[in-house]
Amino acid sequence: MEKIVVNGGRPLVGEVEISGFKNAALPIIYACVLVKDKCIIENVPNVLDINRSFEILRGMGASIKTIDKTTVEIDCTNVVCGSSAYDLVRRLRGSYYLLGAELGRFGEARVAYPGGCDFGVRPIDQHIKGFKALGASVVTDGGYIEISTENGKTTGTNIYFDMVTVGATINVMLASVMGEGTTIIENAAREPHIVDCANFLNSCGAKISGAGSDVIKIRGVEELHGCTYAIIPDMIEAGSYMCAAAATRGDIKVTNVIPKHLESITAKLEEVGVKVEEFDDAIRVSVNGPLRHTNVKTLPYPGFPTDMHPQMCALLTTVEGVSVINESIYDNRFRYVEELKRMGASIKVEGRRVTIEGEVPMTAAPLVAVDLRGGIAVLIAALTCSGTSEITDIHLIERGYDDIVGKLKSLGADIKKIYVPDPVEIKRAN
Ligand code: EPZ
Repeated sequence: MEKIVVNGGRPLVGEVEISGFKNAALPIIYACVLVKDKCIIENVPNVLDINRSFEILRGMGASIKTIDKTTVEIDCTNVVCGSSAYDLVRRLRGSYYLLGAELGRFGEARVAYPGGCDFGVRPIDQHIKGFKALGASVVTDGGYIEISTENGKTTGTNIYFDMVTVGATINVMLASVMGEGTTIIENAAREPHIVDCANFLNSCGAKISGAGSDVIKIRGVEELHGCTYAIIPDMIEAGSYMCAAAATRGDIKVTNVIPKHLESITAKLEEVGVKVEEFDDAIRVSVNGPLRHTNVKTLPYPGFPTDMHPQMCALLTTVEGVSVINESIYDNRFRYVEELKRMGASIKVEGRRVTIEGEVPMTAAPLVAVDLRGGIAVLIAALTCSGTSEITDIHLIERGYDDIVGKLKSLGADIKKIYVPDPVEIKRAN
């Protein structure tokens, strides 16, 4: 079992380079299934969810070669439909993109029901509604989702999503990109990763327009060809470092970012009193005076991202006054709150509303990373408290944060990763 050990209470200072966006890399990597050719993907983050996705695709017959630290060559020419490993697929949410990708390439799909962070019920009814609208039939059998079309191709149509959903928007793009006719998605998600995936597919010869707006038009093409494509920087990783710098009253430059993608996070930090300076592809975050409370509501892009809610909460425990976060995307993204309370934080969760009383003294403690963003929030809190905190279940943080320990160390944090045999292993060894 690996743990992160943090001696907190030091401001983060220096420069940190942001990696490629996990949530853009996932659909793009699975989109390679649509292409019977080599795709060179650059700016790929070295995180667990991506490495597991490579394992899934290799197991299906893909050739994946590492070109350098952040570049891979993916060739899915020989991928076999329906051959993904059940146990790997069910461990990550992003694997649901295999449904759309297999359906788009083979006119059928067979993939295990997806996993991912536990935020309460996370249905995929909109994905299924989309596949059905494209002329496919969908059944669930023995933990698998099985999709088929009559003539081996999806058929273009108009699809209106009942809610704004990132996953279903991308899945319908993947399923229809080589389908017959034209598909129009209405009430589409507008996140930067939707645009990135559409740009990748267009670089492969797809005809997608409107990505980034709430209406996306996909004109089916016969086939896609390989291309070289660089993934956009991870706005949530960047936002996490921005919150960590503010919470520790530090001064950091976050490089390799697209400042436009960070606008909602920047605006909230400025409201709190943090100084944020924008450059072409970097942002400097510093704290020169006292910070004050604010209210946050999570919303689909361009609103404040739900994936920044726990990190914002960790910051708000350190500022004057009472702050409120309203979580409008997930029913239960609050498991991290118990960990912050373990440190002494005064936080109340009522329904989807989190009320944070700031500047209540907090102390270092043994902590658990309960999920990806909850884990980073707990780590941010540990960085703010003097004394030693130990965080377990760090594989959940490593699902989405590239070299988290190395990057924080380079910003002056007293942090290390240690290996401790867990009690079960000790018993076995005896
Ligand atoms: C993506 O999840 C991200 N995951 C999540 O990031 C992120 O929290 C989420 O988008 C929202 O931005 C990946 O990109 C792999 P949705 P996704 O479909 O696609 C409901 C992180 O921390 N819904 O936009 O699963 C759903 O329950 C992760 O990096 C349905 O009801 O999210 C949720 O309440 C965690 N039916 C809302 O819509 C559906 O068929 C938005 O979900 C689909 C979604």
